Amino acid sequence: MSAPKPFYLTTPIYYVNDAPHIGHAYTTLACDVLARFLRLDGYYVKFLTGTDEHGQKVEKSAAAAGEEPRPFVDRVSGNFRELADSMNFSHDDFIRTTEVRHQEAAWALWKELEAKEQIYLGTYSGWYSVRDEAFYAENELVDDKAPTGADVEWVEEPSYFFRLSEWQAPLLEFYETNPNFIAPPSRRNEVISFVKSGLLDLSVSRTSFTWGISVPDHAGHVIYVWLDALTNYLTGIGYPDTKFEEFSTFWPADIHIVGKDILRFHAVYWPAFLMAAGIMPPKRIFAHGWWTNEGQKISKSLGNIIDPLPLIKKYGLDPVRFFLIREVPFGKDGDFSHQAIVHRMNGDLANDFGNLVQRVLSMIHRNCEAAIPEPGKLTEADTAFLANIDAALSEMRSAMMEQAFHKALVILWKRIGEANRYVDAEAPWELKKKDPARMCTVLYVLAEAIRYIAILVQPVMPGSAKKILDQLAAPEDERSFAHLNSEHSLKPGASILKPEGVFPRYEAVD
Ligand code: MSP
Repeated sequence: MSAPKPFYLTTPIYYVNDAPHIGHAYTTLACDVLARFLRLDGYYVKFLTGTDEHGQKVEKSAAAAGEEPRPFVDRVSGNFRELADSMNFSHDDFIRTTEVRHQEAAWALWKELEAKEQIYLGTYSGWYSVRDEAFYAENELVDDKAPTGADVEWVEEPSYFFRLSEWQAPLLEFYETNPNFIAPPSRRNEVISFVKSGLLDLSVSRTSFTWGISVPDHAGHVIYVWLDALTNYLTGIGYPDTKFEEFSTFWPADIHIVGKDILRFHAVYWPAFLMAAGIMPPKRIFAHGWWTNEGQKISKSLGNIIDPLPLIKKYGLDPVRFFLIREVPFGKDGDFSHQAIVHRMNGDLANDFGNLVQRVLSMIHRNCEAAIPEPGKLTEADTAFLANIDAALSEMRSAMMEQAFHKALVILWKRIGEANRYVDAEAPWELKKKDPARMCTVLYVLAEAIRYIAILVQPVMPGSAKKILDQLAAPEDERSFAHLNSEHSLKPGASILKPEGVFPRYEAVD
């Protein structure tokens, strides 16, 4: 057997200036779904997430909280880890930019850039937005603010510069020869026109504050927080030890999934830094959209930040995970509303999937002595029905590989709809007296269909899928995509557990 294919995927690392919210949960959830899918599909996955803990924004937030930066970042980073646990994320590593391993990586990359004469000393005078941690040219400002609406301040300080201007042509060539590097395509066009409009050298060190990684051998300068932060993707796989097996296995990264607001850093600065240091750029950057809250932009000043924890408490974890992935085509903006989540819970989950599982398992429990029935002889239609469910995997795989996560669920729910129609058409409850052998066949076919569907839904709703597979008595070590075949089909006579509803309807209590 050939060695499993490696796949390295990352989330952005989150600023520890504030409490985690739905936007943070969303980016990591998307990665988690992809990571789980790929593991089940036999890949050797490395999934990295973490926190971005340096820079002026974090320093200011610590001061505003009346804390020293160190204890402050320890505390807030802890909240992000807790969120990851509450969301059942399956990352393999959680990186913090205040860790020694990361400082070493940032120093090594800096020295590499310096050795290749990509960095020079000068003076920065221009606009800076602390909220965005970004430099803006005069002509980018809109009504004296950053194009993002953030406040800007005038900065004049000694600074090291990265020769970004020299990378305009190589970047354009790179986008040309790697058409899948930036997704979705609309974002790709945006980036290309930005680069075509000309690139200025980029300030990569700051001297007006100290909370950061110091520039090697140049006291007084700290490394620009974006250069520091982007390097985390290398740190996570052992850089600067490039001979280390992990690095050679996983670099270049297969995908960095980010929000649309931080695409420029990932699709322009990051490949330029890497090419300049003689390191291959990542294979793909996917920029997802933003959530609004009941139609309104989410912001602290509006006081409408969505904390995922109360949502999980109210609706349950898997319904929240399902809603976030199913509701909005990945890459597009979306609106969060309680009505929308309840609609998905009661429709897709309770009525469609939950009802299918509940009625089939209850009939087996009641009419087949709580054991998987004998399949007997399948009709051609039965075989075709199962073959169609079997075909879902390859369709879902194509959707996942282009990060159309919502589409993977649409593909699966099409099968759930067909399974429900099969139940109605075959009416096994009428067969009990009329033709008990046929009833067994129908219930066997349906149990097998549910096994497939539950295995395929694991990446999005791992907890609920486990409950269903446990109820079906599907062996724990036979739940990967390699077990989606007749060789691993349910064994007649195996006892099933008493079925318990997995997707309750949401009834408003207020
Ligand atoms: N620290 C940088 C990333 C450095 S990566 C080398 C950063 N952090 S962040 O905490 O501000 O944002 C992290 C992610 O959360 C981004 O991908 C951003 O798009 C996402 N979201 C923040 N608010 C969001 C919504 N309202 N909706 C969807 N995602 C949003 O940027």
